Amino acid sequence: MAEGVKVRVPGTTANCGPGFDAVGIACSIYNEMTLTLSNDGKCVISVTGEGEGAIPGNERNIAFQAVNLVLERLKLNYSGIRIEMNNNVPLARGLGSSAAAIVAGLVAANAATGNKLTREDILDIATSMEGHPDNVAPAIFGGVSVSIMDGKKPHSLKFMPSIPLKMVVAVPDFTLSTKAARQVLPKEVPFQDAVFNVSRSALLIGALSKGRVDLLQYALDDKLHQSYRQRLIPGMPEVLKAAVAAGALGATLSGAGPCLIAYTLGSEAKIGEAMVKTFAEHDVKAKYLSLDIDAEGAKVVTC
Ligand code: HSE
Repeated sequence: MAEGVKVRVPGTTANCGPGFDAVGIACSIYNEMTLTLSNDGKCVISVTGEGEGAIPGNERNIAFQAVNLVLERLKLNYSGIRIEMNNNVPLARGLGSSAAAIVAGLVAANAATGNKLTREDILDIATSMEGHPDNVAPAIFGGVSVSIMDGKKPHSLKFMPSIPLKMVVAVPDFTLSTKAARQVLPKEVPFQDAVFNVSRSALLIGALSKGRVDLLQYALDDKLHQSYRQRLIPGMPEVLKAAVAAGALGATLSGAGPCLIAYTLGSEAKIGEAMVKTFAEHDVKAKYLSLDIDAEGAKVVTC
């Protein structure tokens, strides 16, 4: 039985404007996790990098919970679980840090116990832990993922856009929990707003697969969540406008925020600097990341 498994999992951006809880993209920023199973009776969790000192090192750790779910599913028992997390994905910012931790735990535990679960099994478990599939699907499969829920069962389609899309992410220096960002959403929306998003999310997928960059300025628009969430992020509309004025094809909230993300084919520095400067004008300290689409998703890097 394999033990001491290292996995690498990408951060992800969800929603991508209109595709609320459905569309997500894997990004070229990664967390690594090493899992060692034994029977030495010790459970040890260590975290370096993003989240160091903030991520729990006990049974509340979601990567640890994910490992245990795999062991329960496979009816395996280990008294010793050692987890070493080395994180680059900023925590609680809308870049899929919780999805990355869940997927890392599931993929590492599966690899350490003989790969008995399929990637679809992992999607099922990850979605039930996360509550929605739009971050976990691209974290597992890479690329752009479109996901639906059929009752409690997720189904996901992965593809790579036909254009070398770049993403410029402005990362503010404050966190925002997904729970808090979901609490500000309305229980019902006007029918026309639903139509607005259905048409744009369909156009987004078509435009990405066909390389119709001219359509992204329309396809990234949203009426289901962003306007309700913008009061949680000082300067959000202005930063999104500044990104487009600096040459972005479009810009949106990343997941539940507070990161804001611009889509482009070039001029990343100009766009990133404009976003950071505009955040500063609203008294928000921020940095920017220039990312590509990750095509592979979660992978085992050493066994
Ligand atoms: N679709 C989710 C949301 C992504 O916007 O609440 C955040 O995890």
